[in-house]
Amino acid sequence: MNSYTYQISNKFVWGLMLLFSLIGTSHAMDNATFLQQFKYNYEEQKFNEQLDLVKLNKSIIPGAVTDLIKEAMSDKYGFEERMQQLNIASAIAYMYLHWHEDDSLIKQVTPFIQAELKKEQKRVAEIMKWKKEERFLGNFVMKKHEKEMMKRGLPMVLYPHWLHRIMYECKVCHNSIFKMKRWDNNLSWQNIEKGEQCGVCHNGVEAFAATEASNCKLCHVAGSPNAEHLHHPEKIRQASIKVAVEGVGAKWRPENLPDGKLPLDRFQFIDWMKLKENNVFTPVASLDKNSTEETRDNKILFASKSGFVSDVIFDHKIHSDWIQCASCHPAIFKDELGGNRMKMTDMSKGLYCGHCHGKVSFTFADCLRCHKKTTGKLSMDESRTTDALKRPVH
Ligand code: HEC
Ligand code: HEC
Ligand code: HEC
Ligand code: HEC
Ligand code: HEC
Ligand code: HEC
Repeated sequence: MNSYTYQISNKFVWGLMLLFSLIGTSHAMDNATFLQQFKYNYEEQKFNEQLDLVKLNKSIIPGAVTDLIKEAMSDKYGFEERMQQLNIASAIAYMYLHWHEDDSLIKQVTPFIQAELKKEQKRVAEIMKWKKEERFLGNFVMKKHEKEMMKRGLPMVLYPHWLHRIMYECKVCHNSIFKMKRWDNNLSWQNIEKGEQCGVCHNGVEAFAATEASNCKLCHVAGSPNAEHLHHPEKIRQASIKVAVEGVGAKWRPENLPDGKLPLDRFQFIDWMKLKENNVFTPVASLDKNSTEETRDNKILFASKSGFVSDVIFDHKIHSDWIQCASCHPAIFKDELGGNRMKMTDMSKGLYCGHCHGKVSFTFADCLRCHKKTTGKLSMDESRTTDALKRPVH
């Protein structure tokens, strides 16, 4: 017995016991009225009234159950609402068996419930499959045109942020080529073929040409074993990174890598600050050689309001070296000291610092990488904080 029928038969037994102390006064009625009344009593958990309705309306119930199943299976419902409707049909069917000794309605409803549960399992498995592909921080599966790609026998696209970050500062792409928001750029093959979006670089000059038939599978690779070098730190291809980086005029100095490997943080993601501190990479700042960079060289102190966590230092320089002002201001933060009321709960939903941290930059689980400065005590970070702008406390 699955949990749904268990739940229902439980309610059924309870309702049955209540029935003996009550007198029902329902009359024969049409399908719609019957369903309306049954649903009302179901939601109000009036079990004896439900039983009563089923007892007194034998002739119309098979038609009403068919109507209800039809309604449940209509497109307007998602999984939860559909199961709710099917559960009601199932409740009617069990009560019908009880009073009228006929299990045909149960036989009619059960396959629909089983099929829905199976479909839901498949849907969840599908989501988990892509989650797995995206487990390496900053790798995105792109599948807005899933149907078209399936039709052409092409796997979905895997976009590796990390590889591009080695070659380019964020500001190369954000916001001139891509808005810093997933699913918000109308990415499509038509645009790429025209030399826009990924095609700005994947044109055979800056990077491999998207339109070359032998290259399709370099991007259309999500879910395939050929993608391993894009999300397994041990399988990353150092030699081809060197060639690619030099090809675009950036710098990659693997000889500075601690023990020759990419430094990983506690969560097995690339530790970009270590790479920077060890002078391993110097990404290019713009595709346009004549452009000038704007940075802001100060630090902002987020004083802790409790003894529970230590203070946070936000380094404008480190961030604006890579990231354009316009990526943060005003879209994510008002550019005013203390002008933003940030709560951790909002951040973990992707607002404020959570716009990047946890998606492309180190994750929130790494509390101490932000909550570093020990309040009131001289800490290793003290030198960084003496000149920090102190935010007014909210
Ligand atoms: C080579 C281009 C490129 C570079 C360089 C790049 N990004 Fe992106 N970024 C993208 C693309 C493509 C998307 C996805 C856009 C979409 O789905 O429409 C994206 C999306 C994002 C998002 C949105 C995530 C979400 O869940 O909505 C964030 C945040 C982001 N990038 C941060 C960064 C940061 C920080 C850097 C630098 C450390 C960076 N990106 C460097 C191309 C780039
Ligand atoms: C700013 C330029 C730029 C943009 C924009 C860009 N790329 Fe790239 N990409 C490169 C360069 C350069 C390389 C490495 C050089 C090469 O292999 O030709 C690369 C490599 C890759 C690789 C690695 C292939 C492998 O197996 O080594 C993938 C996958 C990829 N890009 C996907 C994309 C996708 C998808 C987009 C658009 C969402 C995109 N890129 C946008 C410059 C860019
Ligand atoms: C540089 C990476 C890259 C390469 C190389 C590439 N594609 Fe794509 N392709 C994309 C992206 C990004 C999308 C949009 C994904 C989405 O739907 O979210 C896409 C989507 C598609 C689609 C879906 C329909 C549509 O309008 O978007 C088709 C078909 C397609 N590509 C064909 C090809 C073929 C054929 C090749 C080789 C000649 C190729 N692609 C090479 C990145 C690439
Ligand atoms: C990664 C995101 C980010 C980037 C990039 C960024 N800022 Fe900010 N900025 C912040 C945050 C966070 C604050 C603090 C807001 C608060 O206190 O509520 C801030 C505050 C400010 C302030 C008020 C405090 C001060 O420093 O005087 C100004 C002005 C400002 N930013 C200008 C800029 C300019 C100019 C750039 C580009 C050179 C830039 N910011 C780049 C996140 C960013
Ligand atoms: C637009 C993207 C973006 C936003 C928003 C952002 N960061 Fe970052 N942050 C980065 C990137 C990129 C790095 C480099 C390390 C990495 O990617 O893992 C970084 C590094 C850091 C570091 C390590 C460097 C250091 O100063 O020691 C800290 C701490 C940090 N961020 C705190 C914050 C805080 C606090 C906020 C919110 C007030 C914030 N960040 C908002 C992108 C962002
Ligand atoms: C990317 C940087 C970053 C990371 C990582 C981070 N925090 Fe925060 N946290 C902040 C900032 C910035 C504030 C200050 C907000 C303010 O005062 O306006 C804050 C505030 C807080 C507060 C004060 C109460 C509140 O909700 O504002 C608590 C508690 C807290 N963080 C706990 C944590 C814990 C626990 C973790 C690890 C699971 C964590 N933080 C990871 C940046 C971070």
